[in-house]
Amino acid sequence: MSLFATKSVDRIMQESADSKHQLKRTLGPAQLIALGIGAIIGAGLFSLTGVAAAQNSGPAVALSMVIAAIGCAFAGLCYSEFSCMIPVAGSAYTYAYTTLGEWIAWIIGWDLVLEYAVGSSTVSISWSAYVVSLLHTFGINLPAQWVAGPFEAVKLPDGTMVQGYANIPAVIVVFLISMLLMLGIKESARTNAVIVVIKLAVVLVFIGVGWSYINRANYTPFIPDNTGEFGHFGISGLMMGAGTIFFAYIGFDAVSTAAQECKNPQKDMPIGIIGSLAVCTVLYILFALVLTGMVPYKELGVAAPVALAIDKTPYLWMNNLVKFGIICGFTSVILVMLLGQSRVFYSMSRDGLVPKVFSDIHPKFQTPWRSNLLFFFFVSPFSAFLPLSIVGHMTSIGTLFAFVIVCAGVWVMRVKNPNQPRPFKTPLVPLVPILGIGVNFALMYSLGWSNWLRLVVWLVIGQAIYFGYGRAHSHLRVGGHTVSK
Ligand code: ALA
Repeated sequence: MSLFATKSVDRIMQESADSKHQLKRTLGPAQLIALGIGAIIGAGLFSLTGVAAAQNSGPAVALSMVIAAIGCAFAGLCYSEFSCMIPVAGSAYTYAYTTLGEWIAWIIGWDLVLEYAVGSSTVSISWSAYVVSLLHTFGINLPAQWVAGPFEAVKLPDGTMVQGYANIPAVIVVFLISMLLMLGIKESARTNAVIVVIKLAVVLVFIGVGWSYINRANYTPFIPDNTGEFGHFGISGLMMGAGTIFFAYIGFDAVSTAAQECKNPQKDMPIGIIGSLAVCTVLYILFALVLTGMVPYKELGVAAPVALAIDKTPYLWMNNLVKFGIICGFTSVILVMLLGQSRVFYSMSRDGLVPKVFSDIHPKFQTPWRSNLLFFFFVSPFSAFLPLSIVGHMTSIGTLFAFVIVCAGVWVMRVKNPNQPRPFKTPLVPLVPILGIGVNFALMYSLGWSNWLRLVVWLVIGQAIYFGYGRAHSHLRVGGHTVSK
């Protein structure tokens, strides 16, 4: 069988309908938008906005946000077309299977582990930092070496600096959320909705209160001159800032992984994807303008820039409330990421590319609980031992790569299968997919060679698994019915 054998859309839909392992259809448009916002607003906004302003873009970090949003909007339009044409759980993986063939589908499915599993680990590390800081304000000090990994220096009570052992709070949050996911999507969606309200309230209160404390002098120069080094301010800084802040947008595509649990995917998927992206883009730009208006950009390169901004107001009591809201916000990001991860492997397992254990549905809870458990064991070492910057950039480059393939896939599908019903059509094909490929590739470029290397190593490991297991067990190969070569 050719590496590029594809599955037809009809076959995928039929298999999904025939499945004994049905996921329950419980989600409507509002829940989908909430799922998107739940996945999107997190460590990127609350930590990286400051970092990108201080190191790359200056006050123009709001423009970097616009650039990153443009790349996401092109990808979002392409995701929308696919997600209502093929409303099953696999997202980008399934879309690639129908257009670019099994091998590319494998690559994308494997790559999505970077986005979802490693992404959830990234946010769990930020979660841990905020929890430690909040507990500290209440006089509770967790043992320093057990809240940081071995690549991080921590200060002991006697003032000596040592390396951490493991980030235990980060592992605990991944464990708790994995348990919640095993109990059921409906319960998870409900929890997510509550968290999203808290998170939006924090962002809106920050924008509303902060607006009157903006010092216009902080906006000059809006785009600071380049320092002579690529990515340090100037136009290259704007691009690198966009590459960094891209992390803040990751998650809108996770909406598409819930297509199989959505009541009316044809109508609601584009609303969920584009709607959550639009809401977050507007909030992000306002947030960035307020943050860089309140605090000179050079001071913003800290883990909790929001706390720094609140210090400029008379409302210091807000700090703990905001930290609490941010912790809630991170929790929902981890939840949606882990949910997306188990759903992608659910689809890959149904196709035979990974073992059946990933699609075993619990008889009572109707969730792929074994998969949730296995991914808890996979994510934990990343959370416990790796530094935030490495896992964060791995997440971004993996996600951008997925976006590039989805944009290409929409175009290929239009050429190969023009008559397939498309309840939502990406406008201006092939222009929008080409622009999507271009902008997202430029953002990948801006992340630098070390992240490219990590991506390549990850993909090579994936190839070993595909040729060692997946290809031989593929249902497309075992069951025949190859659609095209
Ligand atoms: N967009 C998500 C965050 O910023 C991944 O935490």
